[in-house]
Amino acid sequence: MQVVFIGPPGSGKGTQCQLLSKHLDAVHMSMGDLLREEIAAGSDAGVQAERFMSQGKLAPDDLVLSMLREHLEQIGQEKGLLFDGFPRTVAQAEGLEKVLRDHSRPLGVVLQLVVPEQMLVDRLSTRGRADDEKDTVKTRLGVFSNQTFPVLDYYRDRDLLREIDGVGSEQEVFGRVRACVDACQQKAG
Ligand code: AP5
Ligand code: MG
Repeated sequence: MQVVFIGPPGSGKGTQCQLLSKHLDAVHMSMGDLLREEIAAGSDAGVQAERFMSQGKLAPDDLVLSMLREHLEQIGQEKGLLFDGFPRTVAQAEGLEKVLRDHSRPLGVVLQLVVPEQMLVDRLSTRGRADDEKDTVKTRLGVFSNQTFPVLDYYRDRDLLREIDGVGSEQEVFGRVRACVDACQQKAG
């Protein structure tokens, strides 16, 4: 089964995807991690993405969509996919729908991690990634509200969206994620 995680920076997408990938034996696909790998490798895509990421802005849709297609070619059909931080715009959601159709991989559920803003700021202030500086975090939060919020409506309209309370310990939140995903799997048969 394919699962999409949507949530603002610091909401626990990466943490929860890692836990769920073990539970489901699924592949964790973090677009942020893929982009950071491209930057570290100094590729053309990395050079292009870095200009946006360092400011807390989104990399261009065509760049992330072509990375998605390339990456999926390398993954066997037998395991499910967990999308972390993708899609982040409606254009990306439309692109993902098409790519998943081409690969005969239906989307099972979209989980929205909900965490109050002050808690997000507190979590990121102690982590220290290159884009965790105060002003950049502010931009990333604004980008989420402006560009990613419409993606929630996109999936709500398709009856795929489920809200998960992202407050609590990692294991407490994971209990909610697992219960929701297990229920969706049972329903899908
Ligand atoms: P990305 O790497 O996806 O960053 P992000 O969305 O800003 O989110 P984070 O990774 O900071 O947080 P998270 O939700 O994964 O939480 P985590 O588990 O790490 O994207 C970075 C950039 O790449 C973007 O700004 C953009 O430029 C570019 N990009 C990526 N995808 C793109 C796309 N699709 N299109 C265009 N551009 C794209 O947790 C955060 C912290 O909190 C950690 O320290 C963790 O230990 C802690 N924590 C987690 N859970 C809990 C808990 N329950 N209680 C206490 N602490 C917790
Ligand atoms: Mg992350």
